[in-house]
Amino acid sequence: MSPVVLLAILCLGVARATQPSDPSLDSEWQEWKTKYEKNYSLEEEGQKRAVWEENMKVVKQHNIEYDQEKKNFTMELNAFADMTGEEFRKMMTNIPVQNLRKKKSIHQPIFRYLPKFVDWRRRGYVTSVKNQGTCNSCWAFSVAGAIEGQMFRKTGRLVSLSPQNLVDCSRPEGNHGCHMGSTLYALKYVWSNGGLEAESTYPYEGKEGPCRYLPRRSAARVTGFSTVARSEEALMHAVATIGPISVGIDASHVSFRFYRRGIYYEPRCSSNRINHSVLVVGYGYEGRESDGRKYWLIKNSHGVGWGMNGYMKLARGWNNHCGIATYGFYPRV
Ligand SMILES: *[C@@H]1O[C@H](CO)[C@@H](O)[C@H](O)[C@H]1NC(C)=O
Ligand SMILES: *[C@@H]1O[C@H](CO)[C@@H](O)[C@H](O)[C@H]1NC(C)=O
Ligand SMILES: *[C@@H]1O[C@H](CO)[C@@H](O)[C@H](O)[C@H]1NC(C)=O
Repeated sequence: MSPVVLLAILCLGVARATQPSDPSLDSEWQEWKTKYEKNYSLEEEGQKRAVWEENMKVVKQHNIEYDQEKKNFTMELNAFADMTGEEFRKMMTNIPVQNLRKKKSIHQPIFRYLPKFVDWRRRGYVTSVKNQGTCNSCWAFSVAGAIEGQMFRKTGRLVSLSPQNLVDCSRPEGNHGCHMGSTLYALKYVWSNGGLEAESTYPYEGKEGPCRYLPRRSAARVTGFSTVARSEEALMHAVATIGPISVGIDASHVSFRFYRRGIYYEPRCSSNRINHSVLVVGYGYEGRESDGRKYWLIKNSHGVGWGMNGYMKLARGWNNHCGIATYGFYPRV
């Protein structure tokens, strides 16, 4: 651990006694605000600072435990450090995914050799990391990412598709713009709409607006979808043989919010209470395979400033950790 971190932790000890905020953190606070371009009103400043100090304690404590080899991943005070857990959770209320049993095609693993490492980014299937902002639109980014991959597989052309198109236009299917949405409703929209625009013609705004879809600008279409059977084996098979897979996870924990690098493992994670949609773009392991440090490679929609340039490694082979294998699916294009 660096002396700087130690010093800051000592300061935190003082912080509890000093009301309302610890002056010794002033420069760190200023640096953080500058880095993340935060600009508060006078009224906001005190409350934001208090939340930030709380979050800082959590992150620093976690990273001490990482240095003591009690954790396999690090955390950092990223752009979300001024949000309370409640505020963060509001950003990701998903409509619970409908019972998928009724749908036709279920992807079952068949026994065959699977590669030990898969990373579709290297094969050109994955567009740049996007940032959903404060709009609760993870579902739109996850679906767009899954279609992007399958369109690339079919056409050899990689095009960023438009989550804004999904946010603005999939209300009739049951979505609620920036409030909440379901990946399957979004997919249903693309299917019944007969197309989806590209990010370049229908750019992201981070707020719901009127539907401005134009058929002549459509950049992708879907003909159906397959769900992945609820097991990590089935998911591994789908990721290895199909491409990036849209999944839901429990991302409601502070450790997820401030994830920096390493293999994410959260003991409080649920396999059933899914509230965030992401894209699995590969899997692999660190160290020797027998170490058990296997991971899923996940593309998030919180910008490149979150995690490992926008990506996360999530523990694989830990009993469907955070529900990664609970609601996987991919579109057919
Ligand atoms: C910050 O906000 C204040 C008040 O809204 C404004 O006057 C100022 O120009 C802003 N500064 C930056 C750097 O955006
Ligand atoms: C998200 O997951 C957490 C923990 O599993 C749960 O407490 C919360 O109710 C979930 N939120 C939604 C909107 O499903
Ligand atoms: C964390 O790392 C230890 C040591 O390498 C390993 O034994 C353990 O399986 C890892 N846990 C996860 C969830 O990856």
